[in-house]
Amino acid sequence: MEEAARDENLRLEFNRWAAEGKGRGMEHEHLPIALPMLERIGFRDDDSVLEVGCGNGWLVRLIASLVPDGRVAGIDLSDQMIREARELSAGQDQVQFEVGTAERIPFPDASFTRAVSIESAYYWPDPAAGLGEILRVLGPAGSAWILINYYRDNHDCHQWGPLLPPTHLLSAAEWAKLFRKVGFAGVGHDRIPDLTPAPEEYSGRWFRDAAQLRRFRAEGALLIWGTRPLP
Ligand SMILES: C[S@@+](CC[C@H](N)C(=O)[O-])C[C@H]1O[C@@H](n2cnc3c(N)ncnc32)[C@H](O)[C@@H]1O
Repeated sequence: MEEAARDENLRLEFNRWAAEGKGRGMEHEHLPIALPMLERIGFRDDDSVLEVGCGNGWLVRLIASLVPDGRVAGIDLSDQMIREARELSAGQDQVQFEVGTAERIPFPDASFTRAVSIESAYYWPDPAAGLGEILRVLGPAGSAWILINYYRDNHDCHQWGPLLPPTHLLSAAEWAKLFRKVGFAGVGHDRIPDLTPAPEEYSGRWFRDAAQLRRFRAEGALLIWGTRPLP
């Protein structure tokens, strides 16, 4: 499928998610894995940060509180998510939201000192192009941090595939290889377990039962990072 048609399908899908209020629900679901990631990043007061696939912008607003002398931008291919993000951030001068894709980030070269992305990268139609764009918009020594719950090494998420729009189910080693291929240095990866207590009973559609949900959370989300080399 050509790029424009592919992006349009994804835009419609995530606009539906926004209309169903899922943008808000994701904050609750992703916060327990986001907080340890933010701690590892260790922001400086004046960092300029980009979030790719920002949904309704909850993480952008949270990061803004960690970089009091900096700024934070969020991009998302869903115009509905961006509309919601702007509404929820009214009056906050430090944050900015733009419609855009990972594969075509609407910012000039070397605009940011950090880039983050949570639960988005496996949807990017061309993950290598997305990582290459992130490298382009980072300044020298800037760092990229990608956190995902859907990856090959955690078998208890594989059943999500048919429930999601088209995705890439890559392993940690494959993500790290892509980071290196596009030019990142200091590439590493680790797991972030979700310490939220799992319910005794599970009746949702993402896991077979509470035992599988518990295993999935204990395995943890995959965090991959890399740094833009100095010239
Ligand atoms: C599961 S949601 C996560 C949203 C947010 N990061 C959060 O944790 O609440 C995935 C988001 O990635 C966005 N997305 C998917 N593919 C994208 C792409 N190629 N470029 C930019 N955003 C994308 C979707 O529109 C959606 O808002």
